[in-house]
Amino acid sequence: MEYPKTSKALRFSSIGGPLAVVEKEVPLLLAHELLVKVHAASINPCDIQLWRSGLVGVVAGDKGMGRHYSGTVVAVGSNVKGWKAGDEAFGLIFHPFGQGTFSEYINVNPTSDLITKKPGCFTHEQAASIPLVALTACSCLDWLPPPSASQRKVIVRGATGGTGTWVVQPAKVAYDCHVTAICSGKNADFVKSLGADEVIDYTRQDITSTLLSTRAATQPYDLLVDCVGGTDLTPPISPITKPQLLHPKWAYVTIVGDKTDVNTPGGPLTYLTNPRQIYRYLKGYLFGPRYACIALFKSSHLDQVVSLAERGEVKAVVQEVVEGAFDEREG
Ligand SMILES: NC(=O)c1ccc[n+]([C@@H]2O[C@H](COP(=O)([O-])OP(=O)(O)OC[C@H]3O[C@@H](n4cnc5c(N)ncnc54)[C@H](OP(=O)(O)O)[C@@H]3O)[C@@H](O)[C@H]2O)c1
Repeated sequence: MEYPKTSKALRFSSIGGPLAVVEKEVPLLLAHELLVKVHAASINPCDIQLWRSGLVGVVAGDKGMGRHYSGTVVAVGSNVKGWKAGDEAFGLIFHPFGQGTFSEYINVNPTSDLITKKPGCFTHEQAASIPLVALTACSCLDWLPPPSASQRKVIVRGATGGTGTWVVQPAKVAYDCHVTAICSGKNADFVKSLGADEVIDYTRQDITSTLLSTRAATQPYDLLVDCVGGTDLTPPISPITKPQLLHPKWAYVTIVGDKTDVNTPGGPLTYLTNPRQIYRYLKGYLFGPRYACIALFKSSHLDQVVSLAERGEVKAVVQEVVEGAFDEREG
């Protein structure tokens, strides 16, 4: 294939400002890069948060929308090993001030950007939906205690969301946990189909008292993964003021932090804006249960996800596919 001259991309140049389809020259391929033709890109809360964020907005110039992609390698730099033109690939690029994945072509550095071969069991749309949420979910499950005689018990709050669905499935099939999902009642059958053993409907039930009444008296929960945010279920400062749901040796992991506004960036950044989280982290480290506000950190988890999917043990759930997004915005 002839090296493309131009690429259309969805870009913005002010904080939360209008998105425009911009046509730019495709930069010459560097020796350590791949050029990927994007077939599908997904939208995640972090894309909206970065678009509306002063952190990104203060830097002059236009920035690309989207971090996740699935596509086909069309050109391979002279120093790149293990890739050839025609390979199907998916991954994540995090260049908040530069290129985004809502783009016809992207330049990917396979040593610093997340990329792996797309298995045939995923469509491009499914593959593009996976990297951030699945890797974040796997990082949460790293906080599980080691296996023991009794089955480990996990609570997933926000279990029907992008990240939550990727916590529920591996927790069940890869770690053999008992999974309690917190979501709205209308999604109860869906989350059970992913492997949840019990469902708590946050729109109708009191979460803390339901969890306390259903847990075995001798076995508190081992891990609570919070994909919603806020402090409703955070470990109490004192068990007298709030009952303790978790085993003192194990963990509460949030991917959001104490904030509840979905429009502002979450994850470990919130340690800076909510010093209580630092206190909670230290208290958990010293006395338990552990507390952590995390982000994805191991790219190797993507291979774990691919293996589970190839064995048919997990599935990628795509809410909606918007075709021809560029065409709609032209003119
Ligand atoms: N730290 C990181 O690296 C990282 C990575 C990914 C995402 N995040 C953050 O995590 C959050 C979730 O992201 P996502 O992509 O998983 O979101 P999402 O796909 O939008 O899902 C959110 C889910 O939360 C559920 N929900 C809403 N309020 C709830 C409540 N009070 N109790 C229980 N469930 C509730 C909804 O379920 P129902 O429809 O059933 O009500 C929805 O399915 C966002 O704030 C995002 O920025 C952080």
